[in-house]
Amino acid sequence: MRRLRKGKLRGMLREVEIKKNDLIVPIFVDENIHKPVEIPSMPSYYRFPLDSAVGEVGKCLDMGLKAFILFGIPSYKDEKGSSAYDRNGVIQKAVRNIKKEFEDSVIITDVCLCEYTTHGHCGVVDNGKILNDPTLELISETALSHAEAGADIVAPSGMMDGMVRAIREKLDENGFQDISIMSYSAKYASSFYSPFREAADSGYTFGDRKSYQMDIHNSDEALREVELDLMEGADIVMVKPALSYLDIIRRVKENFNVPLAAYNVSGEYSMVKAAEKMGWLDGRPIAYEILTSIKRAGADLIITYHAKEIVEIL
Ligand code: PBG
Repeated sequence: MRRLRKGKLRGMLREVEIKKNDLIVPIFVDENIHKPVEIPSMPSYYRFPLDSAVGEVGKCLDMGLKAFILFGIPSYKDEKGSSAYDRNGVIQKAVRNIKKEFEDSVIITDVCLCEYTTHGHCGVVDNGKILNDPTLELISETALSHAEAGADIVAPSGMMDGMVRAIREKLDENGFQDISIMSYSAKYASSFYSPFREAADSGYTFGDRKSYQMDIHNSDEALREVELDLMEGADIVMVKPALSYLDIIRRVKENFNVPLAAYNVSGEYSMVKAAEKMGWLDGRPIAYEILTSIKRAGADLIITYHAKEIVEIL
């Protein structure tokens, strides 16, 4: 076995390798700030005001990164998350501005209500319960408003049953047959999202997300979720988080030959950054190894906060 491991052959025989085209950069756009603000729980990661979000996209494009997923921090919130589907909301404006400047960028929008509701849940709340069906109309309206603004892909992340079908129908009825859906199909009720909730100001005021996000103990259930989303019209499916769910990534890839994204989430990023700050490990090779493991498990695309630092070493 050692003959093939040494020297030049080692590089030739790599089975998988991260490519620039695999990486999707998350961008937080905040309507309430005037200059970039570092996110305390995510060192070296920033929330951007509208104008500098466009500049940040330009910087990434120069580095060879071309796909972005946008998250919004709106100027107002209410019970029904109406700033999520406001035609002049933060994401709608951001998409229009980015597309005006950088037509060739691939713009994905996260479609969810939690950043836009006062209670912070991903759906309509009644009497402490998160209601599935009334939420579908609101998220498909949100997806439509993103498509109208110029998004290439909409990415529903709220884990409501039937969300992909509702969005597909809404987009088709309105002439957006060419807009793709990347569904957060197997999204677990994970503790790894807490830095994101600080970043996107989307923490919830009561309860938890266990009535809609998946049980971390389950794996067959992920296959059922993926199958349903594909039947409803998803073009790309996603497993989230990634690092503690490599087995799920592998099972999904082996069971369905479809484009698969994995979300290397905020907590996975922050752990690396924290250990690096302590001087306990070297962050960049660790991030490279983590992302490689996600590819090796079977992911085609990776959403990652490490995108910029990794692209420098590819
Ligand atoms: C919104 C959403 C969340 C993440 C992406 N979209 C948070 C949540 O479900 O609580 C988490 C991403 C991350 O942790 O990096 N529903």
